[in-house]
Amino acid sequence: MTDLDVSADHGFHDPRHINVHPSEAFAGMRAAGRLAAECLDAVTPHVAPGVTTDALDKVAYDFILDHDAVPACLNYRGYPKTVCTSVNHVVCHGIPGPKTLKDGDIVNVDVTLILDGWHGDTSRMYPVGEIRKRAEILIDTTFEAMMAGIAKVKPGATIGDIGAEVERIAHAARCSVVEDFCGHGIGRRFHEPPNVVHLGPPGSGPKLAEGMFFTVEPMLNLGRPDVRVLADGWTAVTRDKSLSAQFEHTVGVTADGVEIFTLSPAGLNRPPYAA
Ligand code: MF3
Ligand code: CO
Ligand code: CO
Repeated sequence: MTDLDVSADHGFHDPRHINVHPSEAFAGMRAAGRLAAECLDAVTPHVAPGVTTDALDKVAYDFILDHDAVPACLNYRGYPKTVCTSVNHVVCHGIPGPKTLKDGDIVNVDVTLILDGWHGDTSRMYPVGEIRKRAEILIDTTFEAMMAGIAKVKPGATIGDIGAEVERIAHAARCSVVEDFCGHGIGRRFHEPPNVVHLGPPGSGPKLAEGMFFTVEPMLNLGRPDVRVLADGWTAVTRDKSLSAQFEHTVGVTADGVEIFTLSPAGLNRPPYAA
């Protein structure tokens, strides 16, 4: 996800300009999105107690290179790895390392790759071993909030319509929505306008049009929405140490609705992943 300033990425025209792509561009996004989803599918069986987040990063890195794609996060603004692995109270941008996952953890794996110049960006939550009921509720609520937000996407709807739906589902389950990070326009660039805030009210924000590409990637917390970034400059955590969860899809606005580019071909969109 992006922080609230995407202008540094933009170039010289109106920094709020939202790209509208021709129908041919959907093929590129479809292929990139599918490969990103398949990358998470490949990571899925490796998530288990005792596995390091570095090991998950290597699975993703090898998968991306094996499929003639480019890891978008690696060296992006100095980011050192292929994926982000955000464990428990880490909200987003956790950096893979030598620490092992333990029974009862929850972890988000977020991958972005570039295929033929197009970006696919997606993340999922993984339970590690047996998790607590409240962690399961947080994960389920976050997935439902993302999907309900995506279901609002069509020409003429607004970014606020998506966010209002995310908020509605989150608050009904007494979860908070993180305000400091949001989804983003995507395409030939990783992060571009619009900022996809996961907040209402309905009707607020930019109006959607056919051919826009962006991510929907809400972060929900069991406690307060407040976040702080650690001294590594990346790892964002909940200030109150409460558990946090996130899912992310890359989508395109179609003539009459939405296409999700990052659906799992294996049907591994949400836990439980095991048969
Ligand atoms: N994949 C993240 C997103 O959803 C971005 C991570 S930026 C990185 O936008 F540099 F940390 F990789
Ligand atoms: Co993103
Ligand atoms: Co992402």
